[in-house]
Parts: sequence; structure tokens; C-alpha cells
Amino acid sequence: MDYIHKLKGLLPRSLHSHLGAVRRWLRTLPARTRRQKQRLLADPALEAKERSLLKLVETRISAGDGMYTGDGAHYYKVGLSAIRSIEEAIDAAQLGSVERILDLPCGHGRVLRFLVRRFPQAEMTASDLDRKGVDFCARVFGAEAVYSESNLDQFSAGEQFDLIWCGSLVTHLNDTGIRAVLGAFARHLQPDGLLIFTAHGERVIQRLQDEEFEYGISAENVAPIIAAYRKEGFGFADYPGASAYGISLTSPEWIRRAAAEIGLGEVYFRARGWDDHQDVYGFILTR
Ligand SMILES: C[S@@+](CC[C@H](N)C(=O)[O-])C[C@H]1O[C@@H](n2cnc3c(N)ncnc32)[C@H](O)[C@@H]1O
Repeated sequence: MDYIHKLKGLLPRSLHSHLGAVRRWLRTLPARTRRQKQRLLADPALEAKERSLLKLVETRISAGDGMYTGDGAHYYKVGLSAIRSIEEAIDAAQLGSVERILDLPCGHGRVLRFLVRRFPQAEMTASDLDRKGVDFCARVFGAEAVYSESNLDQFSAGEQFDLIWCGSLVTHLNDTGIRAVLGAFARHLQPDGLLIFTAHGERVIQRLQDEEFEYGISAENVAPIIAAYRKEGFGFADYPGASAYGISLTSPEWIRRAAAEIGLGEVYFRARGWDDHQDVYGFILTR
């Protein structure tokens, strides 16, 4: 889509945001995202089981999905990787039947599109602060829509779940926010339910240190959050202009301590388990 860049140079600044919308619309054209799936299906690196699941997966991607950068293969692989982690955690927890699943934050269904196919018998609830994402998940994947709260102490989905998947929210919250989200999940787990969430660990620190990716935080915040992580197992910096929303770094020990205070015990951990990037944790209620 090089012509969009060229066009940008010719147009006044006031029209640049419209160009962004056009670019997002063009890259999510159904024929394009369908082709991207077809190409990934031909990848010999996929396991047979993954190929069978991917075949079933919906290819409509919302133009508002911030997790879709135009690289369809990566987008679908992230979903497959989440399912791999979820299956491993289910095995580790010896979880029985999965009848009710909560995906929070669902975004625009990057993982939910896989969950609905992997657990076709389950009732799916999709929740996020981004109401357009929740509405998309309800419309396209048939999930029950629940709009979330910025203060997760106030969150209620009105029911409890066998399985909760939380992909990349702890990664954006400060200490108070992480405790609130873990508390919300503990309140929403069935007594023998399983919570699976992802967090930023050593892989992310490595990427920050190598300047491979800056994660949207100001350069001057990188060294202090890594130092705090090394000292206390926890570091956090707000995104520029944001309050209590940014990038967190969490050690497994810090997460285990915070979860234990809420009555959650670890049953599963895989460093960089999600997309060779974020750490994946599985927790169950201990009281
Ligand atoms: C990095 S995205 C991940 C989205 C999705 N899990 C995925 O993998 O595509 C983080 C999401 O967290 C959502 N979010 C932030 N604060 C939230 C809250 N308090 N409750 C629910 N969702 C929240 C954002 O709206 C955003 O969709």
C-alpha cells in the first residue's frame, strides 16, 4: 500500500486521519484477509490439528482492530498460539468440561474467533472497554456482549466462568490495576474454573534492551522500569498522556505473590508462551 504513503505526502495534514481510515479499510477487505488465511493454511510448519482449526476460523477482521497491522499470517498465528497455551493450561489444571468462557479483553476477537471454533459447545462472553470491539465480537462470533469498566473492582459479568482468557491486559496495568483485574477474575471463576492470562516478562525486557521494540513508552522510561523490575519484580510506565495505562513488566514471583493474596494458586506457567513473546499463566481458586 505504498500509494497511500505517496498520497499522504500530497495531501494536507487535516486529511491524514481519513487516509489512515482508508488504509485500515483496504487492508481488512474480506478477500485480502481470506487470502491471508489460505496462505497460512499452506504453511508446512502448522500442525495438522492447527490447520484443521484454522480452516474453520472466521476471516472477517474489523477495520477498527488495533491488533491487526495488515500481517494476516501473524494475526492468525497469535490466535493459534493462544489456543496452544490454553490447551496446555487446561491439561495442567485437569479442567473438566468447559461450558462458559469469558474473553476479557476481547478486543475485536483476535483470539475469540479461535475460541468459538475450539470450544463450539461453550457459551462465550466477550468483554472490553472498547465497545465497538465488544459489539463486533457479539455480531460476528455470536458472543454475549459485556461492556467492561475502567475500574475493574466495579466489573460484573453477572455470571461465573469455567475458563477465563485474558490476553494482554495485565501487560498494560499498574500494580493497583493488576490486583483489581485478578480480583475481578477470582470473583468470576467457577469454584473449579481456570484463569489464563498473559504478562510481560524477560522476553519483553530483552526486546526493550535490544531496542527491538519500544512498546509505546517514552525512551526515558525504559531504564527505570527495567531497574524496578530487577529490584522488585515489577515495573510500570504510563503511555505518554495516559494515566494508569501503559506497559508493565512482571516477574513470575511478583505475579504469584499478587495472585496468592487474592486466593489464586498457579497451575501453569510458560515463559514467552504466547507468540514467543508474553508469559502465560494459569491460576485456579485456592479458597
Ligand atoms: C493489547 S489489547 C488486547 C486485545 C485482545 N485480547 C487481543 O489479543 O487482540 C488490550 C485491550 O485491553 C482493553 N482494555 C483496557 N482496559 C480494560 C478494562 N478495564 N476492561 C476491559 N478491557 C480493557 C483495551 O480496550 C484493548 O482492547
